[in-house]
Amino acid sequence: MSAELKVSGLGKAFTAGRAVVDDVSFTVAAGEIVVLLGPSGCGKTTTLRCVAGLEHPTEGEISLGGEVISAPAKGILLPPRLRNVGMVFQSYAVWPHLTVRQNVAYPLKTRGLSRADMDAKIRQALALVDLESYADRSVTQLSGGQTQRVALARAMVYEPRLLLLDEPLSNLDAQLRLRLRDELRRIIKAVGLTALYVTHEQTEAVVLGDRIGVMRDGKLLQLATAEDLYNRPADLFVAGFTGASNVVPGTVRAHHGAFGEIETASGARLSAWLNEGTPVGERVMVAVRPENIDLVPAADAPNRVTARILERRYQGTHTIYHLDLYGARIEALEMGTAPRHAEGGDVTIALPPTLCWAYPAAEIAP
Ligand SMILES: Nc1ncnc2c1ncn2[C@@H]1O[C@H](COP(=O)(O)OP(=O)(O)OP(=O)(O)O)[C@@H](O)[C@H]1O
Ligand SMILES: [Mg+2]
Repeated sequence: MSAELKVSGLGKAFTAGRAVVDDVSFTVAAGEIVVLLGPSGCGKTTTLRCVAGLEHPTEGEISLGGEVISAPAKGILLPPRLRNVGMVFQSYAVWPHLTVRQNVAYPLKTRGLSRADMDAKIRQALALVDLESYADRSVTQLSGGQTQRVALARAMVYEPRLLLLDEPLSNLDAQLRLRLRDELRRIIKAVGLTALYVTHEQTEAVVLGDRIGVMRDGKLLQLATAEDLYNRPADLFVAGFTGASNVVPGTVRAHHGAFGEIETASGARLSAWLNEGTPVGERVMVAVRPENIDLVPAADAPNRVTARILERRYQGTHTIYHLDLYGARIEALEMGTAPRHAEGGDVTIALPPTLCWAYPAAEIAP
């Protein structure tokens, strides 16, 4: 049933010499949900369509459950209908002239099942998406969320080896989106399906994915669990894309194991996680998340420093302080409804070195 998906060196160019998917490699284990996350135009849909067989890759190899389904160099290209892959798209791709039941039954028709088997599978699929009582309604009488659940039931009813989902929630209103997001993960996990899910929404990726792959300009930059992605981003783009909005420029002065001593514009030194390959003398950017800045640091906390509060923005449940730190303007977040610091004053903070990440300035994202 559920199969492992293996993508190696995948490349796709619509015009010669301009790859929109560029040397992408990753594996989705059987029963795992991997989310591809990235800004518009980075190649998420194209990657998904290559896996589905709707797009012909120009490079690389795709295999499903150990079977090579696409390898242009070897002349292998299994047509979509033979891949046994379910798909759910952004637009509600259901048949408007059919009922809910008829929509879900559709993919089973060509599969030679008995009437009883078919009915049982349809019932199961509809129960899974909580639409049993809507079976005989026309799909035109459903809400957006219900329609997407029909699309999901239809994509799963024949027990595909892999489920592909391309921004299935983006046409729904905010509230429904949140609810269906949680439901989707539950449903996919209940069936134990292998799934590849595409979105440009971080929170959706974090909630849904077992692992998240961040894409940019056709390249897969990092594939990791949400926790790894948020706590050890591979580069400045991933750091920024996942919300590490503070950047402090500096120069590497020394290495101490996994950490570097970074001299900032103000001359003060900062200890930050640093890739060993980054040499002394290199210009770097240190990224740190506003919520990881310690506003009540212990007396012996590393990277303890006093900063001027340039601006205070009260947000009700939390407060954001704009600080002048090492000559850079950064934001720090304080939880709670009662802010403890005033605008114009000084505050002693600490930057936990494991949550400060230095990246070569040459790799700066625009
Ligand atoms: N059929 C096509 N012909 C030519 N170029 C295409 C075609 N389909 C996609 N592209 C280009 O490939 C790049 C990647 O497109 P893709 O649809 O994969 O992006 P995406 O990450 O899914 O973006 P979005 O978040 O906006 O859906 C874009 O620059 C797009 O213009
Ligand atoms: Mg897309």
